[in-house]
Amino acid sequence: MDDQSIIKAYKRYAGSYDRIFGKVFEHGRRALIEKMDFAPGQRILEVGVGTGLSLPLYPRDVSVVGIDISPHMLWQARNYTNGGSGGSCNLSLMDAQCMSFGDNSFDSVAVMYVVTVVPEPGKMMEEIRRVCKPGGDIFVVNHFSNHHLVPRMVETVMLPFKGLLGFRPRFSLEAFLEQNPLQVVETCPVNLLGYWTLIHARNES
Ligand SMILES: C[S@@+](CC[C@H](N)C(=O)[O-])C[C@H]1O[C@@H](n2cnc3c(N)ncnc32)[C@H](O)[C@@H]1O
Repeated sequence: MDDQSIIKAYKRYAGSYDRIFGKVFEHGRRALIEKMDFAPGQRILEVGVGTGLSLPLYPRDVSVVGIDISPHMLWQARNYTNGGSGGSCNLSLMDAQCMSFGDNSFDSVAVMYVVTVVPEPGKMMEEIRRVCKPGGDIFVVNHFSNHHLVPRMVETVMLPFKGLLGFRPRFSLEAFLEQNPLQVVETCPVNLLGYWTLIHARNES
């Protein structure tokens, strides 16, 4: 998978994304934002904001910056800017593996269903740690491989189609945490049958 195949895949998804992945992933989005301990005036970065389904869930007194590499997904999210149903929100077309923000720019970072999509999750997490203030919070929600039979079989069937699907079906939580030095505060299962994991980590760098 490379950036161009991801942009192509999400061009296909953009128009129907909310119908396909809106409700299915909603519990994880809500759970993540409920865990974020907001203070008025904070700057929040959402990486891979997609069509902006999470944006109305943020409180009005924080300012949210949403980035995504897909112009087609971001185009769908434009309805949530200018005060939409949430607070202040800005959207930027940007690669999460190489961000143009300065160091320590954000109080917290949210990453929803993106870790298995980006070609280099390690590079993205490095960038997230750089732009998040030291001691700030990093929240990730994603599907990670586990040993349950049914998801394992589904992952195996999907593996050859990862380029077309626009995500990597198999990636373990252990490998993710091993590759990314995060100070994990908590992990908990979310979404259907708890097959997705919400990670709350503190930024050490
Ligand atoms: C599965 S969607 C998740 C969208 C949204 N976060 C949600 O909760 O539904 C993955 C998103 O990550 C974006 N993405 C993939 N690679 C990216 C990158 N390198 N930089 C920024 N966004 C990226 C895709 O364009 C897509 O919008």
